[in-house]
Amino acid sequence: MIQVKASTGLVALLGHPVQHSLSPLMHNAAFAAGGQNLVYLAFDVKPGDLAAALAGLKALGFRGANVTVPHKEAIIPYLDAVDPVAARIGAVNTIVNEDRCLKGYNTDGSGFLRSLEEAGFDPAGKRAVILGAGGAARAVAFALATAGCGSLVLANRTPERATELAGALAGAGLPAPVVYRLGDAGMRSEVETADLVLNTTSLGMWPRVEETPLPPDWFRPGQWVYDLVYNPLETKFLAGARRRGCRVISGLDMLLYQGAAAFTLWTGREAPVAVMDRVLREAMG
Ligand code: ATR
Repeated sequence: MIQVKASTGLVALLGHPVQHSLSPLMHNAAFAAGGQNLVYLAFDVKPGDLAAALAGLKALGFRGANVTVPHKEAIIPYLDAVDPVAARIGAVNTIVNEDRCLKGYNTDGSGFLRSLEEAGFDPAGKRAVILGAGGAARAVAFALATAGCGSLVLANRTPERATELAGALAGAGLPAPVVYRLGDAGMRSEVETADLVLNTTSLGMWPRVEETPLPPDWFRPGQWVYDLVYNPLETKFLAGARRRGCRVISGLDMLLYQGAAAFTLWTGREAPVAVMDRVLREAMG
């Protein structure tokens, strides 16, 4: 932790709830390691207080903020400017205060792509299956489609939500994905022939660790399997994939690289990712 002085700048996390977030730990370690005179604080902001919270950020001269559940979409109308990538995804997870102009960005998609790159997976021309169609799925789907993913399949418990996301991708001039209801028989061959299978649903998240969006015998050795859930670090979904000989990536990597991209937006510097990774892994035990 840095020594807090009168000149210390502030970065907020706005969410509801926020008490279990790992972002304060990750960013304060990053600010200290990167020599930044900044402190990161979490604020539990109820939906009805969002506009007042943003006015507060401006009045108090905060450097910026992260935005998390449930505000990522609702915050957009209250911002002074929105980066085109965030506008396309329809969600903001990072705000920069540029001379009292609050500008929204989305680092979930770029953080996700960097996590793939660091793991050694290039999505260009590959086949990907995304399980889920919520906010996280939106960022991931736009990122993969923009990175030239060859074919995209969306599967969701509520297929209408996946159809809506497919329409948004097509509306942005990107290839329209095929849509399934999660668990439909036809999905099995899609999963078996995919290069990358991604869980963006909350299935398997602590404390419901016995849940999994797919039976593990659908996986094929050598394919990549990514779970955006990071608590537990190895979900039942990832453990099943690992046993089948898949290469697995945990959601902690996306948390890390979306945070690294936000650090760069607030500071103009490369993030100390090794330090951030270490504190996240220590916190997860
Ligand atoms: P996030 O921002 O984390 O993506 P979200 O927008 O609430 O959160 O999306 C949660 C995702 O998990 C959705 O795809 C949701 O499916 P529905 O669209 O049908 O709600 C999925 N999900 C949550 N609980 C689930 C369950 N018990 N079974 C299947 N899917 C589930």
